[in-house]
Amino acid sequence: MEELIYLDNAATSWPKPDTVYTFMVDFYRQCGVNPGRSGFDKAIEAGNILEDLRARLTRFFGGDEDAPKRLCFGYNATDALNLIIQGILGPGDHVVTTNLEHNSVIRPINHLVRDHGVKATFVPFNGGGFVEPEEISRAIRADTKLVVVNHGSNVLGTVQPVAEIGRVCKDRGVLFAIDVSQTAGMVPINMQQMNVDVLAFTGHKSLMGSTGIGGLCVRKHVELKHTRGGGTGVRSAYPYHLDEYPYRMEYGTPNMVGIASLWAGLDWIEESGGVERIHAGEMKLAHRLIQGLKEIDGTIIYCCDKLEDHLATFTMNVEGLEAGDVGIMLDVDFNIATRTGLHCAPLVHRQLGTEPIHGSVRFAIGPFNTEAHIDSALLAATEIAKRAKKMAAVKAS
Ligand code: ALA
Repeated sequence: MEELIYLDNAATSWPKPDTVYTFMVDFYRQCGVNPGRSGFDKAIEAGNILEDLRARLTRFFGGDEDAPKRLCFGYNATDALNLIIQGILGPGDHVVTTNLEHNSVIRPINHLVRDHGVKATFVPFNGGGFVEPEEISRAIRADTKLVVVNHGSNVLGTVQPVAEIGRVCKDRGVLFAIDVSQTAGMVPINMQQMNVDVLAFTGHKSLMGSTGIGGLCVRKHVELKHTRGGGTGVRSAYPYHLDEYPYRMEYGTPNMVGIASLWAGLDWIEESGGVERIHAGEMKLAHRLIQGLKEIDGTIIYCCDKLEDHLATFTMNVEGLEAGDVGIMLDVDFNIATRTGLHCAPLVHRQLGTEPIHGSVRFAIGPFNTEAHIDSALLAATEIAKRAKKMAAVKAS
């Protein structure tokens, strides 16, 4: 069978580097025990990789290095964002967020608005797909407690000016949280320099780890309420969940295979020359694909006039076709995997006006894509656009 051309890396990067698979399997075989719960050597060894990864990721995100224990592991960014949003907001609080958010932010906020007296403002993005810091500033009120921004849009691929937004939040005394699901491993992130108070990450995208591992990095001046309770492996006689980090935000046995995958993913990023180099490689392919698509009659490409501050992820439609139909043709006729629909980010599509055709087709390039993949995608898009024109002509006749 022909090779699958995988262009859905914004959902999950795939394949992973070989070294990630090897490290995960070897680690699990040799040290797949419960960390931090028991005193035998292997349990200590498992605990060591967990603690070393906390310190390493704290550095990677520019967190407070004198407090690396504020890097807490969970399942993914959705899990972390729930902990952050519910851990900060309470009745009477106002939150500012954006139309670029994923449902991992929209839904927890909407639940708090509907059920717990929280108020929310959703700030639109501009024509280029960017949220303007001045708009965030205008939305902040006396009762605003938190601003939450998606660093990189999972639909448009635009990277938001979080350092400028962070400056606004700092000046106004409001906590600032970012979702780095799409940017971690692609764009340098420094929480201290960007005035970010809390960050949510996932391991399974550009950090090159597995699914089921993610977490949050909390600056040392931020205290999140814990909204769950459970085993931590420490002070078991205490009747409540622990207040001290990282246990405060961790519940139950961690995903140690995921931890191993992230460790090897970070190694791979370093060995590949770092995030900027990997990003530049992907952007070269993105330029080729976007430019080629623009030259095809009948394609609509969103928010790609300029590709600065952009990931190698973008969204498009073919005139006259539903997004899902284009995705099916790409898959069935050309063996190309993309993601179509609303991408768990319905407000982006509401603002773009793409809801009536059920969203868009998203292309998301990864580090293992090649020029040949891009050229195949362009041939496929040319053929699909021709089919759309023929169908429109038949309908009109
Ligand atoms: N949030 C992931 C995506 O954008 C799954 O596809």
